[in-house]
Amino acid sequence: MTIHELQTPAILLNLDYMEHNLKKYCDAAAKSGKQIWPMIKTHKSTELARLQTEYGCTGFLCGTLDEAEAMAADGAKDVMYAYPVSTEVSIARVVKLAKACSGFIIRIDGLDAARAIDAGAKAADVRVNYTIIVDSGLHRFGVKPEKVVEFADEMKQFKNLVFKGISTHPGHVYGASCEAEVGKYVEDEVKNTAVAVDALRNAGYELEIVSSGSTPTFWGALDDKNIQVYHPGNYIFNDAIQLSTNTAVEEECALYILASVISHPSEDLYICDAGAKCLGLDQGAHGNNSIKGFGVVKGHPEFTVYSLSEEVGKFHLEGNTDLKVGDKVLIIPNHSCSSANLTSYYVGVRGEEVDHLVHVDIRGNSGKKNV
Ligand SMILES: Cc1ncc(COP(=O)(O)O)c(C=O)c1O
Repeated sequence: MTIHELQTPAILLNLDYMEHNLKKYCDAAAKSGKQIWPMIKTHKSTELARLQTEYGCTGFLCGTLDEAEAMAADGAKDVMYAYPVSTEVSIARVVKLAKACSGFIIRIDGLDAARAIDAGAKAADVRVNYTIIVDSGLHRFGVKPEKVVEFADEMKQFKNLVFKGISTHPGHVYGASCEAEVGKYVEDEVKNTAVAVDALRNAGYELEIVSSGSTPTFWGALDDKNIQVYHPGNYIFNDAIQLSTNTAVEEECALYILASVISHPSEDLYICDAGAKCLGLDQGAHGNNSIKGFGVVKGHPEFTVYSLSEEVGKFHLEGNTDLKVGDKVLIIPNHSCSSANLTSYYVGVRGEEVDHLVHVDIRGNSGKKNV
């Protein structure tokens, strides 16, 4: 079957591009003697997580407990959950994960959540590994690097929590609007990590894990002497946001939407059958304003996807085009993680041939757990 025979809209996954991305990042990490534990919230697929292991990834970073449970059940050795938890139901899941997977690690940045997790772990007679989240500039989670020793000292009161090291995520890099700007976010990542690492080591702490990462900062931070484990997520697919900072080229954008032109109501307006429910409304995280519209129409720079309804998208034409009603187009979404979360399967393709369906089997509550 070819992509021309598919119903539109469809979310395609170019397997050749994706495999290139997996190899590129893992080869570079291996060359630098580093590990990749990819953030799997990007794809939410057991099949793709296994593929990442085949290419050399040695652990996983998970954005949801569903993902962590799926990775542990699949036999992964090192499974890190990116955020603290605070409720009874989540703590029970964390405790169960710690029991089932000796390499399970949670990230913590505050005493209240730590106290609650420690109590849950104590009641279940289990020890839960953790890293301290250090704020390297995103100002979301995290302890300030200069306060990390004070925090680590306070964490010693929690006897069922085991200190493993520190983690950070320089997600504010998505404020960069061009390649030249990425460097200053790498500097934040590396400098703040160094301040935290040096302070902890000087205070006598041993750090088994120093982990960090994002797709745009991966290359600049790869040879940092402190960071050993990297967590790129988006790199498996890339997207229009990565194109805007030259983090990826078009042949590295592996996930795109196949859509049909269904109307041409006025001279400069074309309408396709893919809307916000395929492309997502993301226009760049954390203040990136270099993104024009809601995706890149491959091979048609004359169009801007300037508006989306739920099921349809409006293209604005500037100049001339040969596109007509009934034609199909491929659209690279601005943020592939968002598009990936809008489908139950990707149509895996090689060139124009459909290869197989890749199931997105670990989307939120896909296992109907705890309902
Ligand atoms: C904590 C954390 N680490 C790593 C990543 C991966 O970043 P990226 O998708 O830029 O590779 C994310 C993504 O949001 C994240 O939240």
